[in-house]
Amino acid sequence: MADDIKAVSTEVVPVDARQPEAAVIERAAALLRAGELVVFPTETVYGLGGDALREEAARRIFAAKGRPLTDPLIVHIAQVEELERVAAAVPERAWRLAEAFWPGPLTLILPRSEHVPRLVTAGLETVAVRMPSHPVAQALIRAAATPIAAPSANRFKHVSPTTAQHALADLNGRVPLILDGGPTPVGVESTVIDLCAAVPRILRPGGTSLEALREVLPEIEPPLPPRATASGQPESEEGQAQRAPGQLLVHYSPTVPLCLFEGEDQAQRTAIVAEALRHLKRGERVGILAASEDVEALRPCEERGALVRAPASLEEPEKVAAALFATLRELEAAAVDVILCRSFRPVGLGLAVQDRLRRAAGGRVIRVDPSAAAAEGVR
Ligand code: TXA
Ligand code: MG
Repeated sequence: MADDIKAVSTEVVPVDARQPEAAVIERAAALLRAGELVVFPTETVYGLGGDALREEAARRIFAAKGRPLTDPLIVHIAQVEELERVAAAVPERAWRLAEAFWPGPLTLILPRSEHVPRLVTAGLETVAVRMPSHPVAQALIRAAATPIAAPSANRFKHVSPTTAQHALADLNGRVPLILDGGPTPVGVESTVIDLCAAVPRILRPGGTSLEALREVLPEIEPPLPPRATASGQPESEEGQAQRAPGQLLVHYSPTVPLCLFEGEDQAQRTAIVAEALRHLKRGERVGILAASEDVEALRPCEERGALVRAPASLEEPEKVAAALFATLRELEAAAVDVILCRSFRPVGLGLAVQDRLRRAAGGRVIRVDPSAAAAEGVR
């Protein structure tokens, strides 16, 4: 990817996540009004924001992220009235979803209005719109007095940032300002729903659960399984336009190989322990992402030096989601050679967790069944 951007010095400025200081917001909004970029917290992950109605700002976003121009951006608004400024038509079911879930972690795909440059939508005639609930995001969009295009504030293909420090690690020297409002509460990106298809479908599971969405629109379809390409690389890297953006198999990748285990709980534990010991015997550093229910079984691995992280219980998908990306980045920063990861049930935000882990694993998903695990036949 061409790195055609001028280096800038990046300033990280603290901001009160509940009651953002007016002076801090005004400084960030002035940059946005000047066509510059600002990293800011939302309730899901940190966003890399620019004026959604100015092509040059969108160009800067793609360059700073190293993102291919074929992957469209989400347009963020602060008030529901702004929806008709960025979408050419708003069907009745969009109003119903907006009323139930905005502000919040839900993105709607609607027909693009001509005010939104084609660069923002990657040439598509549809536009992704979301109204975030985070007070800093809300205040910033209002002060900028324009819709804000914002992808997650990470380098292309890396794990999304849930703290200002994650964003700084990826974008230092590429953006003038990062607003630090502390860790983001939801921890996974917004749910993206296509309202331009005959039947509304989730394109990306995220911070609004399928169960909650179906209470408002029972006909919503679950996401299709992600597609791999022949090379295992995202289509956009092969220079093709994306037919279903965001549906790439390899997308949320830690820089360390991640192996995902799926199957019955006890069988997963047995398989992870066997696999961890195999790596440890070769002198490799091992990171394990587990649930609190697994900690006892993983003790032998921990005693031999494996880094075990168990951010929550299997019964707490929201806590798992909140900690997921930070834990992956922590293991990555600890320079482990491999991350072994248990799977979480696809219930509530667990569906988004499952999606991100499968993408992070690429093809490395190991299905275990109880008998195979008993025989230690992991592969
Ligand atoms: O929670 C979030 O959504 C965060 C915060 C910053 O708001 N943003 C975010 O943006 O995750 P990004 O760019 O990393 O992901 C946007 C997703 C991508 O999967 C993209 O392909 C999809 O939305 N998308 C955007 N416009 C689309 C469109 N017109 N049709 C289908 N998918 C679209
Ligand atoms: Mg992203």
